Amino acid sequence: MSAAASPYLTAGVKSIKSGGPPLAAAEMQRLHGEHLRLLNLNECPYPPAPAAVEAIRRLASGVNRYPETRSTALAQAMSARTGVPADRIMFGMGSDELLGLLSLVALGPGDSIVAPTPSFPRYRLSAVLMSAKPILVKIDADGANDVDALIAAVEPKTRILYVCTPNNPSGAQLDDARLARLVAHAPDDVILAIDEAYSEFGRHAGGPDVLAHLAKRRGPWIVFRTFSKAYALAGLRIGYCLSGSDEIANAMRTVRTTFNVTDPAQQAALAALGDEKHLKFILDSTARERQRLSEGFLRLGYKPLPTVTNFVSVDLGINAWSVIDALLLHGVAAREWRDPGYETYLRVTVGTAEDTDAVLRALPLALKTQKEKAPA
Ligand SMILES: Cc1ncc(COP(=O)(O)O)c(C=O)c1O
Repeated sequence: MSAAASPYLTAGVKSIKSGGPPLAAAEMQRLHGEHLRLLNLNECPYPPAPAAVEAIRRLASGVNRYPETRSTALAQAMSARTGVPADRIMFGMGSDELLGLLSLVALGPGDSIVAPTPSFPRYRLSAVLMSAKPILVKIDADGANDVDALIAAVEPKTRILYVCTPNNPSGAQLDDARLARLVAHAPDDVILAIDEAYSEFGRHAGGPDVLAHLAKRRGPWIVFRTFSKAYALAGLRIGYCLSGSDEIANAMRTVRTTFNVTDPAQQAALAALGDEKHLKFILDSTARERQRLSEGFLRLGYKPLPTVTNFVSVDLGINAWSVIDALLLHGVAAREWRDPGYETYLRVTVGTAEDTDAVLRALPLALKTQKEKAPA
């Protein structure tokens, strides 16, 4: 039976032609060897803070019980850092889950969202699942979100305006001037949803304080962040959202599942938050290797996009898929951009110094094989 004939599936589900989720570390290494350099998912190459590992060990034997539902200690610690009241902070199974939940709060058939492209796919996918229309706005030439075009694209049925800063997969962040324009001109009757998955890297690179800007907004807002990147906890699945009002916080609580964050995840996140030295080590190392990787691309004749994150993207001028396959043969996993019109773009996660060396060794070899294969 064709999918179109399945009356029990929603139109949204039927309309999504997804290649499925990307393969993660263990699957990739099973397929391509245990020494594969995992530079495809913007993970941290280092283990989490030692106290986080210890928290996971300590709580392992208690997982016969359901976890705490309000993540009280973590919410209080996060409140002290951000100034957002603890009851407006909610945790989830990665920020990916929370981004998806926002569409349950705000979207119905006929509504629309406005979101940047290329960017994180969840904004578009979760809108389509709710039979809402995604209005996608191209990023700037430098890879940051085009704030003015995003605001101009809002229509009467728009419920959520997404902004991703720093933006994945390009790497640039909004500056103070653009954030100020966003906060001043985004309409008050849409939810301004800012995805800051890479915020720690952005701030380390001298980027603006998004929450300070949002304090000036009259309309509703929500910020999404994660422990997956700079805090090295991707495998535990814990992210959070900071809501600008009780109304949005309560709405998010209404649509969440009951026990969505495990106790080991909550306590490891709390421990990671407390280890500023480890965070600084990760941020300093990332900045150094990001620079080396970018300079290495330049030396190979490819201009990398400006980035403040833990990844570097580059336009190879030839199909990136084939280069990714060739890179795998040389022990490096990287990622394509997956957006129509950007088939020649490659994204490489910033890893250790050895990872950088391996990429810069493997890329010329992979490109050579591809150029030889390409028809004259
Ligand atoms: C921009 C952006 N937002 C959200 C996420 C989701 O991260 P997580 O679900 O691990 O918190 C990612 C992950 O790569 C991302 O790049």
